Amino acid sequence: MLFNQNGQLTETMFNYPENDYEVFREKALKCERCNLRSTCTQVVMGEGSLDHKIMFIGEGPGASEDKKGRPFVGRAGRLLDKILQSANIKRNNIYITNIVKCRPPENRNPTDNEMKACSPILKTEIKYINPKVIVPLGSVASRYLIDSSVKITKDRGKWYNKGDLYFLPTFHPAYLLRNENMKKPVWKDFKKIKKAVDRIEELYNI
Ligand code: URA
Repeated sequence: MLFNQNGQLTETMFNYPENDYEVFREKALKCERCNLRSTCTQVVMGEGSLDHKIMFIGEGPGASEDKKGRPFVGRAGRLLDKILQSANIKRNNIYITNIVKCRPPENRNPTDNEMKACSPILKTEIKYINPKVIVPLGSVASRYLIDSSVKITKDRGKWYNKGDLYFLPTFHPAYLLRNENMKKPVWKDFKKIKKAVDRIEELYNI
């Protein structure tokens, strides 16, 4: 479990610097904590705004991300960009990352041990951003971040909260590429997300 019921991170000693994001990033890029690093090209760190208090979290890098060293830059990423643009949310004003930072072979789901090994990096990203809203993309991220009972087809678009940290799970853009008819419900989700973005900006004067 990453968060307790109050929305606080479950561990606080991560061995990563917590006052200099660039130093943290450089250190995380050298991570070899699990065996995914031996089959991927490079560690793919999250990117985006450290100030806007909103995170989008996917599962793990795919082939394009592995090659380019950036999250969500392949076909699914381009679809995500389009949806963000239509919802009037600037990619630069959110922080996008993944549960695991190294590409799992053949794009398989990351294992529990791999997610656990990578959690100090994700937790440190969360510490820097101090999000008020997290958007888990797809089933793996939703179950890991919210609760293992979450069923993405039934539960997407619902708000969940742990203390004053809110989650809005939605379909992974890679799933949308295969299921065009799910774009409509996702559009509804992004309207909710946009409202939350506006509210956060207003509350925190961003
Ligand atoms: N799928 C993910 O979950 N993350 C990426 O960065 C790309 C595709």
